[in-house]
Formats: sequence, C-alpha cells, structure tokens
Amino acid sequence: MPDLPNGPAPADLIIFGGTGDLAMRKLLPALYHCDVDGGLAPGTRIIALSRSGLDDADYRGKVDAEVRPALHGSEGWDAFLRRLRHVPVDVTTPEGWAGLAGLLAGHEDRDRVFYLASPPLAFGPFCRGAREAGLVTPGSRVVLEKPLGRDLAGAQAINDEVGAIFDESQIFRIDHYLGKETVQNLLVLRFANSFLEPIWNSRWIDHVQITAAESVGTPGRRGYYDQAGALRDMVQNHLLQLLCLVAMEPPSRNDREAVRDEKVKVLRSLRPVTGADADRFTVRGQYTHGLVDGAEVPGYLDEPDKNPPTDASRRVETFAAVHAEVDNWRWAGVPFFLRSGKRLPSRRSEIVVQFKNVPHAIFPGATPNRLVLRLQPDEGIHLSLMAKEPGAGDIALRPVPLSLSFSDAFSARVPDAYERLLMDVLSGNPTLFMRRDEVEAAWRWIDPIVRRWEGSAALPEPYPAGTSGPAGAHDLLARGGRAWHEEEL
Ligand SMILES: NC(=O)c1ccc[n+]([C@@H]2O[C@H](COP(=O)([O-])OP(=O)(O)OC[C@H]3O[C@@H](n4cnc5c(N)ncnc54)[C@H](OP(=O)(O)O)[C@@H]3O)[C@@H](O)[C@H]2O)c1
Repeated sequence: MPDLPNGPAPADLIIFGGTGDLAMRKLLPALYHCDVDGGLAPGTRIIALSRSGLDDADYRGKVDAEVRPALHGSEGWDAFLRRLRHVPVDVTTPEGWAGLAGLLAGHEDRDRVFYLASPPLAFGPFCRGAREAGLVTPGSRVVLEKPLGRDLAGAQAINDEVGAIFDESQIFRIDHYLGKETVQNLLVLRFANSFLEPIWNSRWIDHVQITAAESVGTPGRRGYYDQAGALRDMVQNHLLQLLCLVAMEPPSRNDREAVRDEKVKVLRSLRPVTGADADRFTVRGQYTHGLVDGAEVPGYLDEPDKNPPTDASRRVETFAAVHAEVDNWRWAGVPFFLRSGKRLPSRRSEIVVQFKNVPHAIFPGATPNRLVLRLQPDEGIHLSLMAKEPGAGDIALRPVPLSLSFSDAFSARVPDAYERLLMDVLSGNPTLFMRRDEVEAAWRWIDPIVRRWEGSAALPEPYPAGTSGPAGAHDLLARGGRAWHEEEL
C-alpha cells in the first residue's frame, strides 16, 4: 500500500521483552490506540522478542487473550494483530539473531526502533548482539526503560555500553511521567500564559510538594524491589524530572536540546544532601501490616513472594521523602518536598505549588493560594482561590477551586503517557526523553543519600499500610510550619 502523503512512514518496532509485563500492560495497549488514531503507517510492524518459543500465531493469540480484554473498544483490533510478529531470541547466543535478521532484511531503509523492555543487565548484550547481526542502521533508535543503573557508576556503565553502539541522538531514555498530559500542560501553563511567570519565584511561592503515592504493595516483586527501593525507583527519575519542569528557566525554544539544557541546569543547581544533612533532610519508611481500602494487607516483609525476606528486605525503603533546595536566584529559600511510597491510602501523583500568604491581610481567615497539578488519577489542574461566601453580614472567606479536568474539558480520550512517548520515538522527537547528562546529574545528587542510608545501622521507619507514611515525613515539613497536602480537591 502506498504511504499516505505527509503521514507516518512504515517502521519496524522491535520490542525486546515482548512477552513481559510492561509490553502486555502498557506498550501493546498504547500501540493499539496509536494505530486506531492513525499514528502507525500501513506496513508498520511490531516485532516482539523473547526466549519463549512462540510463533506469530501463538503470540497473536496471547496478546488477544491478555491485552484485548483490558482495552476500551476493539475497532481495528484484527488489523492491529496482523502487525504483530514474534521472534524467539536469546540475546546471550549469537545464533538466536538469525530469525530477526531474516525478518528485517530488505527493510533497512525504514525507521527501526529497538525498545528494550527487559532487565537492564540485558541492555548491553542486546545492543552488541544487534550490531554484530548487522541490524543497527543509521535510521535506528533505541529506547531504554528504567532503571538506568542503581547508582551513578551503574548508569555510566549502561550509557557507555549502549553509547558504544548507538549515537546519543539515537538513544531515547524513557520516563513515562514525562508523557503525561498534565506534565506537558505544566510547560504550556508556564510558558504559554503571561500571568504565572512573574510570580513563579521565591518572592511569591512558599514551597513546592511533589507526591507519587501508590496504594499497591509489592507482592511477588521482592527480588526487584529489595534492590531498588522508593528513592531509586521513583525519586531519582520521575520526581526529579517533575521538579526540573517546575523549576526550570524558560527555554528559548520548544526543542529537544533547549528544554533538556534547562532541565539539566536545575539538576546541577540542587544543593547536595551529603553526610549528616541526609539525616535531617530525608526520611525513609517501610510499610507494616495495615488496612488499605478497608482490606487487611500484610507488611512488606510478609508479602507473598517466592523469595524469603533477607537483610536487604529489612533495610529497603518503601517510602522516601526528601527536602530539596534549588540553589539559584529564582528559588533561593524555597523548599521542594518530594515523597513517594507504597501502601499509602490512595494512588495519587501531583505537584502542589503553595503560594505565600498575601503581604497584608485585611480579611480574617484567608489562606494562601495553591496550584495543584494532578497527574493521576483524573489528570487536571486546580487553583485554589479565596472567595467570599455568599450572604449578608460579616465577610466569610472560603477557598474555592478553579478546576480544569482534562477529561471534562476535552471530549477526546486522554491518551496514556506511553502513547505520546511511543509516537515521539517513531517520529524521532527526543524532547520528552532524558539525555545522558540529565540521568547522570540525577544520580550524582541521589548517590550520597543512598550511601548515607546504606551506611547507617538504623532501619527504615515503620508505617502501617493505609496511612500517609512515617511520622518523620510529617516532621520534615512541620518543623518549617508546613504540612503535606492530603485532602482531595
Ligand atoms: N512492568 C512495568 O510496569 C515496568 C514499568 C517501568 C519500567 N519497567 C522496566 O521494563 C523492563 C521490563 O519489565 P517487565 O516488568 O516487563 O519484566 P518481565 O515481565 O520480567 O519481562 C521481561 C521480558 O524480557 C524477556 N527476556 C529476558 N531475558 C531475555 C533474554 N536473555 N533474551 C531475550 N528475552 C529476554 C522476557 O522473556 P523470556 O523470559 O521469555 O525470554 C520477557 O519478555 C525492566 O527493566 C523494568 O524495570 C517495567
């Protein structure tokens, strides 16, 4: 079929780890929706790799059984299934590559995307194997999933391995938080409106809170989570990326390098949290048995898992909170509080910008304005304003929200973050992906905190599942007379 004029060109998207949880739960549903929306050109193929001996028909059957039931709608589903291929490959053996090479032969002029949805230890062998099999073309790109290392040295090793095969311009390090509508709207809100920029600084803003709360625990994931913990799993990547978008200076253009240059400047301006400062400015916790949504759930150490708990399990944090400071002219003295945890009361990710109180209060009961950017659930933006309660007599004030819910304001379906990011990879736009210097700057800031925690005899502070984290997290704000934003708007 001929290409559509100005439409996307046919591409080959190769998912290494095509039978895994990420592919099944996120990538394939996102690709299906991209397809329905016309984002995939006729002839574009999705080639799944794994060691399982599935053929194309088996794989399509698996996707039909596991992915389709979770989708909204099934328009074009059969056509989508026909795009799918499965090639058994074990990246540790050279022979394994022949099947993939055969499938790609004759399509060297297409854009080729290698999506590495596999354990990071396999990134290097995959890239080397792909090059040795002659599969890396000038039009190739590679997408790396988190975690990119467990520390700066590990991230550098992965970046070196992948960088030996692919040019930095071909490497797309994904942070799916950056694909969320609210996150992109934050940039639009800040840089396409004139009213915010004059007050987006330490003169008017008291502090910023960034929360990524999950109500789920980690059943069956101890093997992974014992090595990760909330700081590495959430703060190092997602929360620091959000902090960058709140704190960055206006970029000169909305382009790949200008935006990322400004983000990396923020990361380099973070005040180091080293030595005893880590005791004062960070909090770590681990959930114990409790009640979530009315149901009893076990503590982290008692989660059902094939791996029994070890010393690493006792020491790993399922909750992390950090008080960060951005040492520059705009943000001097404005704390940025970051927190993320498992088994909290609800699943909620948001950025809260807390403004200062009015300089001179003439009405009693006025509380400061607050801007809440909600990432999940119900992506939207809410600004709390003080208003007068209707009625005669004394003036009574009440905070009222000025709310923009994306699903209410726009009739179009709010796309999942992976849809946006996959389309960006296919069109070669890396603006919402992390550059090597960003990832490494983030690790450079996180590493001393990890070292302090790992060198300490103290264990994470326990908190019952279903509560909002350990007491220390509340103290982190309370000593400055502040509190976490907890209530639903
Ligand atoms: N799941 C999520 O929601 C999520 C979110 C963010 C990031 N991530 C990251 O994404 C990556 C994948 O996560 P996942 O949860 O999907 O893992 P998973 O369920 O364990 O899947 C791993 C996939 O890699 C394949 N694989 C492993 N070793 C291989 C080898 N030597 N050769 C060929 N294929 C191999 C596996 O297939 P076979 O075993 O059959 O070979 C499977 O398809 C990880 O880095 C994870 O940290 C996951």
